[in-house]
Order: sequence, then structure tokens, then C-alpha cells
Amino acid sequence: MLDLADLSSGYGETQVLHGLTLRAEPGRVLAILGRNGAGKSTTLKTIMGLLPAKGGSVSFDGKTISGMTPFDIAKLGIAYVPETRDIFRSLSVRENL
Ligand SMILES: Nc1ncnc2c1ncn2[C@@H]1O[C@H](COP(=O)(O)OP(=O)(O)O)[C@@H](O)[C@H]1O
Ligand SMILES: [Mg+2]
Repeated sequence: MLDLADLSSGYGETQVLHGLTLRAEPGRVLAILGRNGAGKSTTLKTIMGLLPAKGGSVSFDGKTISGMTPFDIAKLGIAYVPETRDIFRSLSVRENL
């Protein structure tokens, strides 16, 4: 279970997420919809620890993960697949996934 509680995040002085709360439950698919620039990628980057949470928290299976490094968050089984072409060219599609 992935829980976002009153999460705030952004870039420098620019705040993008203003108190986002949502829960992703095991065995279910959750889609976040929004226009370009709405904050979808910012949400994912904050979950992954690529951006620091300015307020609120991210927890996974009851353990707070906000503040952990992306490396340690990845070890918990959480992965971020960017929309850009940030892939490993030498790996297959399966290996990249
Ligand atoms: N690296 C960045 N520095 C400053 N502002 C950014 C950066 N990346 C995104 N933003 C801004 O944050 C807001 C949310 O962007 P983003 O999360 O990428 O939206 P989405 O993924 O929903 O299209 C937008 O206003 C965007 O311009
Ligand atoms: Mg995006």
C-alpha cells in the first residue's frame, strides 16, 4: 500500500503539489489524470525521492519513505518509468522495464 498524505512538493520556490492525499492499493491499478503541467510527474518524482517533499509524507506498507534516497526507495520495489527517452540502450525492453 502506497500512501500520500497531505503531500507538498515543487521546484525551489515554485510549489506544485499542495497537500495531495491518495492511496494506491495492492492488486489495483491507479491512474492519475491531468493536463500537461498539472503535476503528475512531480508527484511520481516526489514518491521516488527524486524531489524532496516540502510537507506531508509518502509511506509504503506503513513505513515512511519520504526522506529516503531514490536508491533505497527502489530497493523496496518502487520504480519510476519516465516519459522521456531515459532508457538503457544496451538493454532489452524487458530489462529496461
Ligand atoms: N525542473 C523543473 N523546474 C521548475 N519547474 C518545473 C520543473 N519540472 C516541472 N516544472 C513545473 O511544475 C509544474 C508541474 O509539472 P509536471 O509535474 O511535469 O506536470 P505533468 O507531468 O502533469 O505534465 C509545471 O508548471 C511545470 O512547468
Ligand atoms: Mg509529466
